[in-house]
Amino acid sequence: MTNNFELWVKTHQDRIESFMMRCLQTDMSDSIIYDVCKYSSLGGGKRFRALLVYAIGEITHTDKLILDHISASIEFIHAYSLIHDDLPSMDNDDLRRGKPTCHIKFNEAQAILSGDGLQSLAFQILSLPSLKIDDQKKIKIFHSLSKTIGINGMVKGQSLDIENTLKIGKIEELEKLQELKTGLLFNFIGSSSYLVADKTNEETIQKITNLFSLLGKVYQISDDILDYESNDEVLGKTTGKDKKDNKLTYVSLLGISEAKKINSNYFTQIEKIINSISGNTIFLKELITKIYQRAH
Ligand code: IPE
Ligand code: IPE
Ligand code: MG
Ligand code: MG
Ligand code: MG
Repeated sequence: MTNNFELWVKTHQDRIESFMMRCLQTDMSDSIIYDVCKYSSLGGGKRFRALLVYAIGEITHTDKLILDHISASIEFIHAYSLIHDDLPSMDNDDLRRGKPTCHIKFNEAQAILSGDGLQSLAFQILSLPSLKIDDQKKIKIFHSLSKTIGINGMVKGQSLDIENTLKIGKIEELEKLQELKTGLLFNFIGSSSYLVADKTNEETIQKITNLFSLLGKVYQISDDILDYESNDEVLGKTTGKDKKDNKLTYVSLLGISEAKKINSNYFTQIEKIINSISGNTIFLKELITKIYQRAH
């Protein structure tokens, strides 16, 4: 990995965090719920989803002010999903991003409310006049995000994840639940970042769609592998939790070696697709490698 790339990562992590901070501060900076939202959305996190948006922007030469809105809305949705995922009635986790989870640090009611608030903040950001794209595109993005995270999307995936716990699942069920709970948001990263570009072509759109659908799979399979192989200090989450809770994952269903083999096959397919996309793909390429090789 080049130093240039690491600098790009740091610059864009800082950029998205200061933009998110400005979004949060707008009208609630003197309340308890502000502290709760800030704790869980700005206290750590790798920002890979935001970085992927900027990496597509390097290919399409999209105005970064536009990308800030897309990235921030995705990171706020992601933060909301993690707060709710950690709740006692869901995964019942007490460690997230190396710190106590939201409901441990504050309380369950504030955690639920902050998730609700961050979800609506994400849509508010997409409706701001400072997001200078045409209204038809805005409506498309709204529609797509609401479908991505709704009752036929992420929420359904999370519901299946809870339902499938303690059951011996089938591979098709596992693929479906992972696509819904994690994959669709990756599809949205690809489609929305490409939609806001000035010039697009059908062939590249198709490649980005395929690439992000594979990346969503790799992201969750890697998460399952890390839960099995890593430790709490490195991961910043409670490890071994999937096994303890009898979660249906690639590791529990197929074993660690097979999970790694499948993940590696998907990654090879992703590399082939990136190599066939024209333009400045260097940041996207390095970022996806970093995501695949991540230790936390
Ligand atoms: C964890 O996501 C939850 C999944 C969908 C796998 P990340 O590993 O991206 O979490 P942060 O944002 O870096 O903490
Ligand atoms: C979380 O999956 C998926 C969503 C939050 C939508 P996990 O439950 O595996 O994520 P971690 O391991 O707690 O981060
Ligand atoms: Mg979960
Ligand atoms: Mg979890
Ligand atoms: Mg996990």
